[in-house]
This record gives sequence, structure tokens and C-alpha cells, in this order.
Amino acid sequence: MFRPISVLVFDSPEAACREIAAQIARLIRERSAAGLATVLGLATGNTPLPLYQELIRLHREEGLSFQPVVSFNLDEYLGLDPKHPESYRSFMRRNLFDHIDMLSENSHLPSGMLAEEEIAAHCAAYETKIVRAGGIDFQILGIGRTGHIGFNEPGTPIDSRTQSIHLDEITRQDAAPAFGGIGQVPEQAITMGCGTILEARRIALLAWGEKKADIVRDAVKGPVTDKVSASFLQTHPAASFYLDRGAASALPA
Ligand code: PGA
Repeated sequence: MFRPISVLVFDSPEAACREIAAQIARLIRERSAAGLATVLGLATGNTPLPLYQELIRLHREEGLSFQPVVSFNLDEYLGLDPKHPESYRSFMRRNLFDHIDMLSENSHLPSGMLAEEEIAAHCAAYETKIVRAGGIDFQILGIGRTGHIGFNEPGTPIDSRTQSIHLDEITRQDAAPAFGGIGQVPEQAITMGCGTILEARRIALLAWGEKKADIVRDAVKGPVTDKVSASFLQTHPAASFYLDRGAASALPA
């Protein structure tokens, strides 16, 4: 029904990230020359770290300015103070924002500090901010072992919008080492919806290592199903998977 998703395999995460960063830099420079801001959708986790290192290098060594960039992160843990070292706001500061010239008012993450009755309005306002910014030009994604994109765990529908969700046990186990034990890992998060993500004009999903090989195969070659949110990318006209050899190792040759 859909054309096969584009899959690009690289010798290393660093090589893949040089290619993606070059595309992002080109987009920022082209849009900026036309007087336009570039809207990036950003992800957290270990996967995008080499990408952020390369973007920082492009800023420091090649004069790439992030002043005309607006960003929206995919998700944030609920119940974590933004100053908590494992909050995604802290993660983004530590790994990207503190090292480039982006204006702080242009970087958006969902809030993790919301009372139950504030959640729906906060999520609706996040969606509105994305629309007002002109929509996401380039969305970066990782993939969880549950197949999640953002924190859209199995069972989330293809047209879901920004909302609060319960984290899958596998996702919490994967986060446990960083938090010093599963008991410290939040149980809920706010995440952009699958429908929100799919509205991005271009999408790059990144995955490294054999640990991700089976879920990458399911997302790329399996049916489009809410059991694997990343499989929804098969319906997108401009989504690509950037893999190292380990993450590509379960794909048919
Ligand atoms: P990771 O997480 O980058 O730390 O592997 C990816 C994800 O859960 O989306």
C-alpha cells in the first residue's frame, strides 16, 4: 500500500550523524537566507548524542548559527523538576542548548511539573505553539525497544495528539540505570502524539546497535500497526531510517 521507507546504513553512528547534521545545516542556511526560521523537532536519549555533538562542532568550527532555529522536544517525564539531572530539559541544556547560540525562548519542551487538571490545556497549548511556529520542518526520532517514537507506547493510535501517557515497563527498565533504579523512574510522561510527529515535513529516525535490530525490522518491514508506533512512519512521504550496521542487522539483505 505504501512505498518502502528509505533506509540508509552507515559504518558508524558518527558517520550517519555527519550526514543528518549536514542536511540540517543546509536547511537552516537556506531558510535563513530567505528570512525564514527553521523548526526542528528534537529527541533525547543516547541515540541523538553524536548528532548533537556534530551540530555543536558545526556551530563552533563552521559558524552555523542557531539563532534562526525554533525547537520542540518530543517529550518530558511527568513529576520531574526541570532542574532534575534526568529531566529532558536538563538533558537538552547539557547536550546541546548550552553549547550553541539558540535563543532560550525558542526552545520548547513539554512541562513535567503539571497538576492533573492542567495537563490537557498544556498539551493543547503545545500543539498550538507548533502550528504557530509554522509546523516542524525536520523531526529527529529515536526508537525504543517497544517501538515507541516519542513516548508513544504500544496501543497509541496513529492520529494521537500531545498527551500524558503511562510508560511501558520495558521503557522504564531501560531508563533505570540513569535514575539509579527502576523505583526512581517516573511512571508517566507528556509526549507529542503520533499524529503530531507525522505532520513534520521531514523525519529522520536514528538507531544504533544490535539491541535495536529486531524492532527496527518490525518498524520497517512489518505491518503498519499501533503495536509498533515507529511503523506509522511507513505512511510518511519523507521519513528515513538512519542505521549503523548493528541496527540494520535483522533487515533482509
Ligand atoms: P535511546 O532511547 O536513544 O536511549 O536508545 C531511544 C528511545 O527510547 O526512543
